[in-house]
Amino acid sequence: MEAILDFLSSISWWGWILIFLMIVAIRDIFFQKAHTISHNFPVVGHLRYWLESIGPEMRQYFVANNREELPFNRIERSWIYASAKKENNYEGFGTDRDIYAHQHIFVKNAMIGFQVPEKHPNIANPYFLPCAKVMGAYNKRRKPYRPASVINVSAMSFGSLSAAAVESLNKGVEKCQAYHNTGEGGLSPYHRKGGDVIFHFGTGYFGVRNKEGGFSMEKMKILVDENPCIKAVEIKLSQGAKPGKGGVLPGSKITKELAEIRGVEIGKDVISPPTHKAFSNIPELLDLIEAIAEETGLPVGIKGAVGKVEQWEELADLMKKKGKGPDFITIDGGEGGTGAAPPSFADHVSLPWTYGFTSIYKIFLDRGLTDRIVFIGSGKLGFPAKAAMAFAMGADCINVAREAMMSIGCIQAQVCHTNRCPSGVATQNKWLQNGINVPLKSDRLAQYFKTFRKELLEITHAAGYEHPCQFHMEDIQVNVDDDYLSSNLRTVYKYQKEQVGFHSMQELYDCQHLGGKPTYEKTL
Ligand SMILES: Cc1cc2nc3c(=O)[nH]c(=O)nc-3n(C[C@H](O)[C@H](O)[C@H](O)COP(=O)(O)O)c2cc1C
Repeated sequence: MEAILDFLSSISWWGWILIFLMIVAIRDIFFQKAHTISHNFPVVGHLRYWLESIGPEMRQYFVANNREELPFNRIERSWIYASAKKENNYEGFGTDRDIYAHQHIFVKNAMIGFQVPEKHPNIANPYFLPCAKVMGAYNKRRKPYRPASVINVSAMSFGSLSAAAVESLNKGVEKCQAYHNTGEGGLSPYHRKGGDVIFHFGTGYFGVRNKEGGFSMEKMKILVDENPCIKAVEIKLSQGAKPGKGGVLPGSKITKELAEIRGVEIGKDVISPPTHKAFSNIPELLDLIEAIAEETGLPVGIKGAVGKVEQWEELADLMKKKGKGPDFITIDGGEGGTGAAPPSFADHVSLPWTYGFTSIYKIFLDRGLTDRIVFIGSGKLGFPAKAAMAFAMGADCINVAREAMMSIGCIQAQVCHTNRCPSGVATQNKWLQNGINVPLKSDRLAQYFKTFRKELLEITHAAGYEHPCQFHMEDIQVNVDDDYLSSNLRTVYKYQKEQVGFHSMQELYDCQHLGGKPTYEKTL
């Protein structure tokens, strides 16, 4: 025994390294069967896998130029980070974008911009920018709702996001009077930290699910009665990143807390089917919308990504005929994000936002229905100039998901589907999410939203308007890469947006249905 110990202690440190590498080589050649490269090039083959795994970070930090990356390039991310931290978010020396590039958008400034009069709400509060329409006003719902912010947090569930992230978002929206969409996973305690909430459900009916996995109106009523923070209900038909694709939440992830929130059994796989059980055609969808609105008193809307338009036309025809229908419609672009989706879906199924929104808005415009509906857009719209374009096309509000995630620390590692999100935002790993400082991150979300609203207002004023809802299609121009070179949106998309009945910011400020806390900063 002593001889063996003597022999081992006589081996130098580089001897131990050689022994370790030999063991790895033996394993690579004789025992592992999964990787051809490791078998054919023992030991060094591992370098390839390691380099591949750190490739995204290397490219992000050292190789990619400022405008190169997707989904969000460095300039976009930096603008969100700086805005969220209230740091200098300007760029020096002029734009580094090719402003002659295809699809580049321009906001047309007025010769003399809008001059904000004395005693205007925006003098005291430069961040005040509520929605110009009231959800549920046309359909005379018992509890109409005017979102107090034109930018809001898009559907992302507790489950896809960590508890700390959801709490940061909710406390953040409370601080800037925006709303927080729950996403498909039900209403968690982390969604009830003071902010306005839009309760969203999909085919899994989490939170409002009966024993058979279908929709329970009874549970919906109780949920709304017990949670006055819920200001509206959204029925998810589809989302841009994976329309028509259901999901599986593995039993291993169903903790006691998640089971309670989602209304499912602990430890059992939960399947979200691709389609709804509560309706199978447009008349049934309309009936469900009306039933929920009637039982809860809340405005009810739908969210969808756009492909074929025939069923949207049927919905619009039925709304015209019956004088009822959704109070808001959220159109999600194919460029939208997700916790997890197959690339074949994320890359190819459903239209990008501008094409999808255009085709749907036109359907409601042709039937004279646009003033009944609050149109919400989502799909990389969390930047003031892009939002101005969305408003010119007919959007009344925008929802942001990944931009909101970035404001609370997401670094676009693109590993939401692995439970290994390094920033703790999109993971259930306790260690990783413990790094999130909720009070600080909620301030960041609030500051991003405020900066966004302020800059959108400044662009609006430069164009000669008081509120972005006043943008016309002719106010925005886009490079179209043909003989017309650059055309206004009306020429490109072949419709004229119906102007919103906006009178003054003061009127919105005084509206009794204005969201945000009742203690809204009455700074006037
Ligand atoms: C982590 C994550 C989870 C999401 N969960 C949902 C969801 O539960 N329901 C839904 O309709 N959309 C969901 N989405 C889509 C977003 O709500 C949004 O529509 C889309 O990402 C486009 O907005 P963005 O470009 O600002 O991210 C999710 C997106 C992300 C990134």
